[in-house]
Amino acid sequence: MAARRAALALLDAVLRRGEPMDRAVHAACQRLPSDDRALAIAIAGDTLRWLDPLDALIDSATEQRLPDDSKVRAVLRTALVQLLHMGVAPHAVVATSLAALVGGPRRLAHAILSRAQRDGWTLPLPPPLPAPVAARWGAAWGASVVAAAELTWAEPPPLDLRFKSEQAASEFDDGERFAPQHRRLARAGRIEMLPGYAEGNWWVQDLAAGIAADLLGPGNGHTVLDLCAAPGGKTMQLAAAGWQITAIDSSSKRLERLRENLARTGLDAELAVADLRSYTPSQPVDAILLDAPCSATGTFRRHPDVLHRITDADIASLAQLQAELLARAARWVKPGGLLVYATCSLEPAEGEEIIRGFLANNQGWRINPAQSGEVPAGVAIATEGWVRTLPASKPVLDGFFIARLTAP
Ligand SMILES: C[S@@+](CC[C@H](N)C(=O)[O-])C[C@H]1O[C@@H](n2cnc3c(N)ncnc32)[C@H](O)[C@@H]1O
Repeated sequence: MAARRAALALLDAVLRRGEPMDRAVHAACQRLPSDDRALAIAIAGDTLRWLDPLDALIDSATEQRLPDDSKVRAVLRTALVQLLHMGVAPHAVVATSLAALVGGPRRLAHAILSRAQRDGWTLPLPPPLPAPVAARWGAAWGASVVAAAELTWAEPPPLDLRFKSEQAASEFDDGERFAPQHRRLARAGRIEMLPGYAEGNWWVQDLAAGIAADLLGPGNGHTVLDLCAAPGGKTMQLAAAGWQITAIDSSSKRLERLRENLARTGLDAELAVADLRSYTPSQPVDAILLDAPCSATGTFRRHPDVLHRITDADIASLAQLQAELLARAARWVKPGGLLVYATCSLEPAEGEEIIRGFLANNQGWRINPAQSGEVPAGVAIATEGWVRTLPASKPVLDGFFIARLTAP
């Protein structure tokens, strides 16, 4: 019962308040045992994946449309997804779901759940993307990428581990290797139980997320500003590659997680809390990694809430911030130095368009094209020299945009 209640609270946070689900989990699942917490996240996640088909079924069974934010619609969404997709026994779904309702709404929900069983309702497989996202990605990338995105978000995503060194990776027996210092596991249980976690031999990092720091190559003690660094997957990569790092983020809470990650892995970086819009470093650096704040729509497999929360207006205002941060960061690189710009977004406005705009306004800067040996096998390099990963990529990975630039 507690897990179902928490799932309703998560959906309310995402759909009504527009909060990221990760953040809502802290409040909604704080006191739950880990099994209940996992169940609440699974129910909420699958409800978000199938939201439109669930609503269509609910609407087909009611004469008057139930308000989008009504409790009875919320309960029916979560009950139906358990019944029709998650394989939860009907009596358990009915008992645990109806308890959240009283009176007329309870009778209505009971009637609809009975009808779902009697009429053999089903949910489409794979689940369709929300209509505005399908239209946006269809226009940007084509129908085949929309179809691939739908297939990938129906599957539990694999777990990618990034190792401190090839030596540490070679001691890990399990998983597939798609890049140096990488292993992919089909799906793990609790990551703390995997070998090498306590020793700090690896951290969890999507294969695509590893590309940005890899494009800076070995550090050999050179200086790098790691901008928007927390929680630090890329900081740890840079530290393991021998860079002398100053890692900056505006969130002290997230930097605290970065500090913990560095302590666990025994890696080193100088940390600073600062808003890049007002920060200026004391001296220029050899390289910059700017992992800019973005819509994160490229992480939709793990975070289905992004596709319901992010609006065109959000994308436009993030793009403005990204252009501003890139223009500032570019002033801090030594002549001939490198700047890698990355976003985990599938929106061209947060990737290709930012770099085109930057190059148009900053004479002398040029793209330093990624080379095939620098990215995981199967990842395509665009003719412009940047890297764009899409849901249709094989191996499957997050949607990222990464460009390496050389300063004049
Ligand atoms: C995409 S995440 C960074 C992920 C990180 N690079 C990693 O590999 O783990 C973006 C980060 O930008 C930070 N951020 C957002 N706006 C910022 C600003 N104006 N100045 C500095 N950091 C900012 C956020 O706190 C967030 O941690």
